[in-house]
Amino acid sequence: MAINRTSSHGEWSSRTAFILAATGSAVGLGNIWKFPYITGENGGGAFVLIYILCVLFIGIPIMISEVYLGKRGRLNPIASIKYICERENRSKYWQVIGLFGILTGILILSYYSVIAGWTMAYASRTAFGILNNIDAVGATTMFNDFISDPERLLAWHTMFSIITAIVVSKGVKSGLESAVMRLMPALLVLLLALVIFSAFEGDFINGLKFMLYPDFSVVTWKTVLIAMGQAFFSLSLGMGALMVYGSYLSNDISIPQTCVIVASLDTLVALLAGLAIFPIVISSGLEMSQGPGLIFQTLTVAFGAMPGGQLFGTLFFILLIFAAWTSSISLIEPMIIWLIEKYDLTRMQAAAFSAGLAWLLGIGTIISFNIGSDFTIYGMTIFELLDYITSNILLPMGGIMITIFVGWFIVKENINSELKIKSRFLTFVWYFSTRILAPLAVMFVMLNALGFNINIF
Ligand code: TRP
Repeated sequence: MAINRTSSHGEWSSRTAFILAATGSAVGLGNIWKFPYITGENGGGAFVLIYILCVLFIGIPIMISEVYLGKRGRLNPIASIKYICERENRSKYWQVIGLFGILTGILILSYYSVIAGWTMAYASRTAFGILNNIDAVGATTMFNDFISDPERLLAWHTMFSIITAIVVSKGVKSGLESAVMRLMPALLVLLLALVIFSAFEGDFINGLKFMLYPDFSVVTWKTVLIAMGQAFFSLSLGMGALMVYGSYLSNDISIPQTCVIVASLDTLVALLAGLAIFPIVISSGLEMSQGPGLIFQTLTVAFGAMPGGQLFGTLFFILLIFAAWTSSISLIEPMIIWLIEKYDLTRMQAAAFSAGLAWLLGIGTIISFNIGSDFTIYGMTIFELLDYITSNILLPMGGIMITIFVGWFIVKENINSELKIKSRFLTFVWYFSTRILAPLAVMFVMLNALGFNINIF
């Protein structure tokens, strides 16, 4: 049976390596700029609480399902699912989960890389002191000037694409694993340093209050849905990224335990990011502006005005580059191993092709901020459309299919023998959440997306 299969791409040298890699995938731009921004928009503490519940009851079951599929199949997402379908006598059409995932990964990477490029630009700007003593108006002008220049955006996007391709072209052992082994601990240390800086230089009490004090009067069904969507995106679920990382997992490791650790670390980083950001925003008397604005406009003003801000601002942006980098590796890896296995490409060729494709698609995102900003489909620019389709349609669809497949279409004994959940209560929780709770909840995200779509028309 599947128990003794190993991946031809190598295995993680230890459980810690897998945890670091999966955490590296999960922690990214989503945690560090998106989480604080939507927390700000949705009432702070209550939103955080709902988010944590979503991670626990929806995110973790889907994550376990996804890692299970990868570890059992040991191949690229498409072939892993095909292999499992053959063993379970199920329709081979379940393979579309893998295909969807591979395409979704490249689509997300195409704009993720552009935004990561902004982070690189701002790291260098902060390091050179260009942002020192800048005021809110200056920061806004600078940001708008920056994104209106397609050449600059292209240069940074290209740079980010190249470093991603270089790391993944070296393979799991020498590339991915050693990269995350060094980057993840460094990232946590930098984030902690930033929180400490925030505690001394920012309005820490009010920042903390904002994050922890739950005001349920601002909570609507939509708030719950947004929190769930964020849990989904932040944990890297629904596109096969964790399936691939799971396929490198050695046999003696407990999937449920490992997933709980990864989800906890991801949530911890998001909360730390909030703790680092909110006090600075509040003490500087700044507004919680929207999306990219929060970091690229607001925080630079704060760092520019604070003693030591040049150093800490630079460290912060470097941290964000690392986080985006380890996430982007997981977005591209499913396509790479698919190309290697299916079309016999070398890892180098597969990395060049995949990164090249994402790079090319990224040009659509770049021009949607400047020369192509008037070009819209259903009222959305290319960037907004890509983000909309991937976050609101493709990822939730992947998530629903993964939980339904694992929950309903795989013989229980086969799952039990792999997951080895001892307690009867936890077994009940696992099946209830995989079969019913998680798919239904994700369906709500999709319905919400559909409602949003109707508004647009
Ligand atoms: N989770 C990452 C973040 O928070 C983004 C990401 C990486 C992702 N791989 C993914 C999102 C796979 C969805 C699916 O920034």
